[in-house]
Amino acid sequence: MTLVYPSNPPAVVPPSKAPRPRLAFVGTGYLGATYAICFAELGYEVVGFDVDEPKVAKLAAGQVPFHEPGLDELLRKNLAAERLRFTTSYEDVADFGDIHFICVGTPQRADGMAADLSYIERAVTNLTPHLRRKALIVGKSTVPVGTAEWVQQLVAKHADPALGVEVAWSPEFLQEGYAVEDVLRPNRVVFGIKSDWATAMLYSAHKGVFELATTEDREVPVVVTDFATAELTKVAANAFLATKISFINAMAEVCEASGGDVTMLARAIGYDARIGNRFLRAGIGFGGGCLPKDIRAFQARAQELGVGEALRFLYEVDLINQRRRQRVVRLAAKLLDRPCGPAGPDLSGLRITALGATFKPNSDDVRDSPALSVVRKLARTGADVVVFDPEGTENARQAVPNVLYASTLGDAVTGADLVCLLTEWEEFRNADPRALAELVRSPRMIDGRNCLDPALWTSAGWTYFGMGR
Ligand code: UGA
Repeated sequence: MTLVYPSNPPAVVPPSKAPRPRLAFVGTGYLGATYAICFAELGYEVVGFDVDEPKVAKLAAGQVPFHEPGLDELLRKNLAAERLRFTTSYEDVADFGDIHFICVGTPQRADGMAADLSYIERAVTNLTPHLRRKALIVGKSTVPVGTAEWVQQLVAKHADPALGVEVAWSPEFLQEGYAVEDVLRPNRVVFGIKSDWATAMLYSAHKGVFELATTEDREVPVVVTDFATAELTKVAANAFLATKISFINAMAEVCEASGGDVTMLARAIGYDARIGNRFLRAGIGFGGGCLPKDIRAFQARAQELGVGEALRFLYEVDLINQRRRQRVVRLAAKLLDRPCGPAGPDLSGLRITALGATFKPNSDDVRDSPALSVVRKLARTGADVVVFDPEGTENARQAVPNVLYASTLGDAVTGADLVCLLTEWEEFRNADPRALAELVRSPRMIDGRNCLDPALWTSAGWTYFGMGR
């Protein structure tokens, strides 16, 4: 493995002979659309491909089909500059691209913990027969280690062998809510390669990223490595982040039993630079389209490789995470003075307000959302559950139709016997506890994200409960 900085990147002429490689992003979901738009912003000629016609039509009309700060503006700007377009035609993409980034989803399989690779298979086998010149197929999706080798076999089978189409792997590390920054100003890029040509093409495709860094007097570290290490980098990073969150949530359980305060504990240990204070926010745990499914797929792959034991701790990480969601229901019963038997409490006749539905703020994503999972569990207690989320209501309503959705914070809390803050949106963090106390039936707050000031809320008359404090 070599660590190379962009001072002297290798030169290459793209197969299309264009001055910069022409970039195609196959799959315009969250990942592919964000990359396509941001790379157009960096000055590349870009096409985004998807089989989903309504999605492509929306993007082509300048509308981002999900909530991501800053992206709408960049989409419209780059469509107008004619550097960016969208298509549903494999022929079109194949004809256009020098580099094809595979950005399709790899969800958890319905029949187990492993990742479903059928979208990757479909993308590669449908695209490659249309290639008429050399190209580089670059995997970006999060995949089990060994997938890049398999993609190479698929390419060998479906592309014209005379063209010498190559494969590389370059995982992404986007955080929802910060994705534009993460693409334009990545903290590192990873190239899993098998040839100097592939390395040179990837450098060339990231020249815009390096140039931007240079103008801002930053460096972007580049890790050039083999396929397996590149694939593992992504899942290892997500496994580490998930472990960090579950570690602090395990400490929250111990704090709850012993009278400690996990937020203080996190601060105190976080001052040690070896530990660091980020990703140590205890609460209702992690969710989203990545961390939960990635730690499961990683375990499944480790089993297949005969090293299942090495990742057995991730099973615990998952369990700790699930327990946090249940904890809110037990706390609710305690605060509302209702007994909690093995089947859960009966909270019928009570109104509970859930603030937040998305898996984190600044996103409309409710995939495996801890907030929505708590909403489901609360609804099962018989309580009348009212949900308010600044951006996620539409998606939440589809996933959980059997609760009420309010359109303002004030409406949501009116008449509540208990308020549960489940996603730390700024609107909730900055809410005025005195004003809200006027609206509720009874001022009880479970702060599922430990994002409120307990002293402030208590002095405004609220019975306040944080997680692990
Ligand atoms: C995560 C990783 O952070 C990205 O680096 C990665 O690229 C991405 O997955 C991916 O695989 O594509 P993301 O899913 O956007 O990004 O969300 P995170 O910011 O990691 O948050 C995940 C969950 O953990 C959220 O539910 C959040 O509320 C929770 N969390 C985070 C905590 O409970 N405590 C913390 O201290 C931090």
